[in-house]
Amino acid sequence: MSKVGVVGLQWGDEGKGKVIDLFSGEVDAIARAQGGNNAGHTVIVEGKEYRFHLIPSGILYPHTKCYIGGGTVVDPASLLFEIKGLEKLGVVCANRLFLSGYAHVVMPYHREIDRSEEKAKEGFSVGTTGKGIGPCYADKVNRLGIRLADLGCKDRLRGKLERVRIGRGIELDVDKVAEEYSGYGAELASFIAPVEEKLFEACRGGKKILFEGAQGALLDVTFGTYPFVTSSCTLAGGISPGLGIGPARIDQVVGVAKAYTTRVGNGPFPTELTEDEMRLFPDHTAAREIGVTTGRKRRLGWLDAFLLRHTMMLNGADSIALMKLDVLDDLEEIPICIGYKRRGKMVSHFPISVEDFDDLQPVYETLEGWKAPTSGIRLYDDLPSKAKKYIRYIEQYLAGPALLISVGPQRHQTIWMDRLFEGNR
Ligand code: GDP
Ligand code: IMO
Ligand code: MG
Repeated sequence: MSKVGVVGLQWGDEGKGKVIDLFSGEVDAIARAQGGNNAGHTVIVEGKEYRFHLIPSGILYPHTKCYIGGGTVVDPASLLFEIKGLEKLGVVCANRLFLSGYAHVVMPYHREIDRSEEKAKEGFSVGTTGKGIGPCYADKVNRLGIRLADLGCKDRLRGKLERVRIGRGIELDVDKVAEEYSGYGAELASFIAPVEEKLFEACRGGKKILFEGAQGALLDVTFGTYPFVTSSCTLAGGISPGLGIGPARIDQVVGVAKAYTTRVGNGPFPTELTEDEMRLFPDHTAAREIGVTTGRKRRLGWLDAFLLRHTMMLNGADSIALMKLDVLDDLEEIPICIGYKRRGKMVSHFPISVEDFDDLQPVYETLEGWKAPTSGIRLYDDLPSKAKKYIRYIEQYLAGPALLISVGPQRHQTIWMDRLFEGNR
C-alpha cells in the first residue's frame, strides 16, 4: 500500500493538513490534484503553525518531493508568496516543488468576476473564498484559459489574453497583464516540470506517494450540495485526471472527518447547531474553527453520520481519520445524525437538490458525553469508555475502520488505531 489518497468527507477543513503531515515522514512525495488557493491547510510542528494554500503540506519534511498537478488552478502571485514565506522559514522549495505546465492560471479578472458574480447573486450567493477559482475553471472548460505553460512567452501570452478579451467580452489591458504575468512566469520557470512523467516514474519505482485532497466531498462540483460547491472534483476519483496518472495507481483512500461537522459559506447544513446549542460548544477560536483562507467563522453542527456514509461511498474510502474529538470533551450528551425524515417518513437517499433539504429533519441517536479531557491521551485503551463508545458507534454505522483519532492540532496529539505505512505510529 504505497499510494494513498487523503480526502475530506464533509465540507472541507476536516484536518487534511494534519493528516498529510502525520504521514509525510514516511513517504517520498505528496501531490495536489485539484483546487487552488481557496484551500487552507494547517500544520503545527513544535508549536509553530504553518498554513498552506496550494503547496502540499508535506513540504515541511526535507526529504519529500511535492507536486502540483495539471488539474489545479494556480494564482502565481499567491504561490510565489507561499514559496517565499516558506523559504524565509528555512523550508527549501527549489528542486523539491514541481508544477505542471497544464495547470490553469488564476488571472486578475477571475478574482474580479468571482467577487462581482457573488455580489450580483444577492440572497443566493455561494459564499466563495473570492479567489477567482470558479471563473478560472469556467474559462478552462470554455477553452479560454491560460495555462502555466503559456506564461513563458510574452507574445504568446498577449495573443491568448487578446482572445480572452474578445471571447469573454471584458475590458482588459492586455499589455499590462501580459507584462505582469510573464514576469511571474519567469519567477516560476524553475518550478515548472513534467509532473506527469515524474509521477509515472515514481509510481513505477514503487515510491510512496500521498495525494493531498483539497475541500471536501460535499463541495464536489458534481456530487456536492450544488450549486453551493467549489468548481473542481474533490473526490478520490479526481486524483487520477487531476494528476495525469492511471486510476489503478491509487492503492488506498483515507477519508478525513471531524467528530462533528462544519461548513464555511452558504448552502444546506441539516445538523447545524441552534443558537442555544452553540453555547454548549467551545467558542470558534478555542475550537480552531476560523477559516484559514478567509478568516470567516465556520458554521458548526453535530456529526452527520448519514452524510458520512454517503461520502465514504462516493470516495470509496477504506478508512477514516476521525479528527477533533477533543472539541467534544465537555459535552453532557452528543447527538449523532443517523438519517433524515421528511413529512414523518425516513428519507432513503442523501438528497440531490438543495430544495430537498428545506423540509428535512435530522434523526439523532444521542450518546452520553465523556466529560473528561482527551487531548493528552495517546492510546485508545486510555480513552474514557464513553469516548470509545462514540468512536465504535461511528465505525459500526459507517462500516469502516478508524485509522487514527486526532485529539489536538499538534502532531503528537494522535491516537493510532492502525498502521498505514511501516513505522508511522
Ligand atoms: P484542512 O483544510 O482539512 O487541512 O483543515 P484546516 O487546517 O483548514 O482546519 C482544521 C483546523 O483544526 C486547524 O486549525 C487545525 O490545526 C485544527 N485541528 C486539526 N486536528 C485537530 C484536532 O484533533 N483537535 C483540535 N482541537 N484541532 C485540530
Ligand atoms: P480546504 O482544502 C472549506 C468553499 C467556500 C464556498 C465554496 C465555493 O481548506 O478544506 P470557491 O472559492 O472554491 O469557489 O468557494 O467552497 N470552500 C471551502 N470550504 N474548506 C476549503 O478548503 C474550501 N475551499 C472552498 O467557502 O462555500
Ligand atoms: Mg482548510
